[in-house]
Amino acid sequence: MMKMKIFGKSKEEIKELVKSGKVTVAVYGLGKVGLPLALAYASAGNKVIGVDINERIVEMVNSGRNYLPHEPGVDELLREFVNNKRITATTRLEKAAKESDVISIIVPTGIDEHGKPELNAIYSVSEAIGRGMDKGTLIILESTVPPGTTEGPVRAILERESGLKAGVDFGLVFSPERVKSGTVLKDFLENYPKIVGGINEKSTLTAAGFYEAIVKKGVITVMNARAAEAVKVFEGVYRYVNIALANELALLSELLGVDVLEIIKAANSQPYSHIHFPGAGVGGHCIPVYPFFLKFVSEALGLDLRFVNLSKIINEAMPSHIVDLVIESLNEAKKPINGSKIVIFGLTFRGDIKAVERSPAKPIINRLKYLKGEIYAHDPFLTSEEVKNEFGVSKIEDLWDALQRADCAVFVTDHSIYRNLDLEKAVSLMKKPAIIVDGRNIFDLNKVRKLVNEKHLIYRGVGRSKSLLEGSEINFENILRA
Ligand SMILES: NC(=O)c1ccc[n+]([C@@H]2O[C@H](COP(=O)([O-])OP(=O)(O)OC[C@H]3O[C@@H](n4cnc5c(N)ncnc54)[C@H](O)[C@@H]3O)[C@@H](O)[C@H]2O)c1
Repeated sequence: MMKMKIFGKSKEEIKELVKSGKVTVAVYGLGKVGLPLALAYASAGNKVIGVDINERIVEMVNSGRNYLPHEPGVDELLREFVNNKRITATTRLEKAAKESDVISIIVPTGIDEHGKPELNAIYSVSEAIGRGMDKGTLIILESTVPPGTTEGPVRAILERESGLKAGVDFGLVFSPERVKSGTVLKDFLENYPKIVGGINEKSTLTAAGFYEAIVKKGVITVMNARAAEAVKVFEGVYRYVNIALANELALLSELLGVDVLEIIKAANSQPYSHIHFPGAGVGGHCIPVYPFFLKFVSEALGLDLRFVNLSKIINEAMPSHIVDLVIESLNEAKKPINGSKIVIFGLTFRGDIKAVERSPAKPIINRLKYLKGEIYAHDPFLTSEEVKNEFGVSKIEDLWDALQRADCAVFVTDHSIYRNLDLEKAVSLMKKPAIIVDGRNIFDLNKVRKLVNEKHLIYRGVGRSKSLLEGSEINFENILRA
């Protein structure tokens, strides 16, 4: 494979080299982000070596078989670049480093049960890269990490294993992946600028030149790697805290008898308000994880991140609030949880994706099972086997069948098929009275109100209480003037 080191070259030279296919990029980690990322690098002209420890994944890539069917664009690009040999995959970590000019690391990161960052995959690929790489390689860490990871442990491992000096013999930068599952290619190539911060200026400028040749929205360079790492985790913590605020405002809206969704939308019509949306809980491998990267480093430096602590308490209480709404609505129909058929609609942590990490559906199901409910689930993105293994309940395949069998339908995830559900038809098919707990406020309130008034439906949403639908007198005179 032809090699063309770009470290220290001008932007114009780098652009030319990328476009003419003279640069070889190795992508370590061919997962939900890594595979689309590898294809995005190839689409700019680069030769790409995909590197993974999972042999099955490597075999699938080499034979052009897509294992991310819900990721738009991946299918076509994978076939194209396997056919024209622009992309190959391997499990040989050291060899791939030897053969490449630019290295992107996008392996998983997380936190353990004690809140300590788990960065072992990064450390182990860094060792292999350090052993394999030559002078002049540009190394870009793209996995989300706590501030300090690139200039600290990653730099130390690479220098120790290679005998080379970071910033002088090879470039080292952090550049966060700001993509979202379901839109990875578009997010990376078109939607957002790439943030780049290196361990020195030469590293930063090289990586900036490289990405300017690839991404449409250009590059934002920041002072150093530490700052680039902070950009990603600050974004994450902002969302975590903002969701907690929305959840707390939802609880208050229930007491006030107002619709939290209506209020948030109206408030956000002014440019200084960006309130997020409340829900059944915060899942995924990103938003509930990154604040704890920050908290870990922050505590080591002597600062307790109080916003994060409080947000965790509020966000992690939402699944049990959903269970409370189930109890409340069944109670209104004079039914106990014990023996009621409760169907959970949506198990993945976000709508329209196939990923279940830290899904709030899990604690909801566990609690309802403990209370002796008969629990079933519906989710078009998961097989029966996946539902059984991950959540310990049986999947009902057909949406209408699932609705018909439910004493109480609990919507935990806002898949489009639920958003587009004909509520009147659903209610007419359900047992009477139909009981719906809407964990994502997906149903139109006017339709809900009509069905509730006609006594066909008992409804609760997060931030949408019984008193919102039926009215309740609050003695504000007493509260405010007492
Ligand atoms: N998924 C997202 O929406 C998203 C968005 C932005 C950022 N990120 C970040 O991207 C990183 C990767 O996430 P993902 O969702 O693609 O993970 P993933 O679990 O889907 O894939 C990770 C891949 O890395 C491979 N791998 C694990 N250890 C390895 C090693 N030592 N050497 C080589 N390969 C190894 C695994 O086999 C797997 O194929 C994480 O840091 C995550 O925080 C993810």
